Amino acid sequence: MLDTSWDEIIEKYRPLLLLKPELILFYPDQGESSAKEQILSDSKTFFVNAVTHELFTPITAMLGLLEVAKEGEYVQETLLKIERHLKRLQRIIEQLVLLSKLEQSEYIPHYQRLSVNRLLRDVLLEYEEKMKQKNLRVDIRTNKFIRVDPEAFKIVIRNLVSNAIKYSKDGGIVEILSQKDFLIIQDHGVGIPQEDLKNITARFYRAGNARSYSGAGLGLAIVKHILRKLSISWAIHSIMGTGTKVFLKIHSDSTSATGE
Ligand SMILES: Nc1ncnc2c1ncn2[C@@H]1O[C@H](COP(=O)(O)OP(=O)(O)O)[C@@H](O)[C@H]1O
Ligand SMILES: [Mg+2]
Repeated sequence: MLDTSWDEIIEKYRPLLLLKPELILFYPDQGESSAKEQILSDSKTFFVNAVTHELFTPITAMLGLLEVAKEGEYVQETLLKIERHLKRLQRIIEQLVLLSKLEQSEYIPHYQRLSVNRLLRDVLLEYEEKMKQKNLRVDIRTNKFIRVDPEAFKIVIRNLVSNAIKYSKDGGIVEILSQKDFLIIQDHGVGIPQEDLKNITARFYRAGNARSYSGAGLGLAIVKHILRKLSISWAIHSIMGTGTKVFLKIHSDSTSATGE
C-alpha cells in the first residue's frame, strides 16, 4: 500500500536537493492530471511503432552488412558488427519477454532479507569496465537491510545504476545513499528534458538528449512494472544538464540489527 506523501518529500528535501515539483515524476501517480500526462505509456500505436522500429533497424543494417560480407571483403569486421546487432536484438527480446510476463502478472515476488549495500556492490561489479572508461566514481552510503524479492530488485537497481553511469559525464560521480525511508540514486549527468520526463517510463521512449547513447528505452518501463509488483513507490527528479535523482521508498527490515 502507498503510504507516501510526496508533498512531504518535496518539502523535506527541497533545500537539500533543489526539488522542483514540475521536474518530478511520481509512481504510483497521484491524481488524474498526471495519469493523463502518462498517456503515451499506454498507447498501443506508440508501442507497435517502437517495436517495429527497434527490431527492423538492426535487421536492415544486418542485411546490408551481409551483402558486404558476401563480397568477401572485410569479412571479420563485418561479422563482428553483425554480432553486435544480434546481441542488441537478443537483449531487446529478453527485455520484452520480461515486460510481458510482468504485465500478465505471471511473476510472483519471493521476499527475502537483503543487504542493499551488498546488492549494490554486486551490480557495480558488472559496470566496472564502463566506470573505468568514463573515469567515474560511485559513492555508496547505505547500510540498509530490506525485505524484498532479490532477483526483481536487482533488475531495478541494475537499470537505475546503469542509467546513472551511462548518462553521467566523464569524470563524474554517482551517489547512492539512504535517507530515512528512501534509497536515492543520484547522478550529475545530462539530465532529462522537462518535456520528456512524463514519458520516460513508456516502453522504447528515449529523451531527445539520449539518442547519442546506446539503449533501447526499455529499462525504466521494466523498473516501473517491477516496483509496482513490489508495492514500492518511487520518483524521478531531473534537471536538464544538472543531473537526475531517483527516490525509492523502501523500509528497513525491522529484524535487522544494523538497519538504519
Ligand atoms: N540517469 C539518467 N540521466 C539522464 N537521462 C535518463 C536517466 N535515466 C533515464 N534517462 C532517460 O530516460 C530514458 C529511458 O530510460 P531507459 O528506459 O533506461 O532506456 P535507455 O537507458 O535504454 O535509454 C533514457 O533514454 C533517457 O532519456
Ligand atoms: Mg537504461
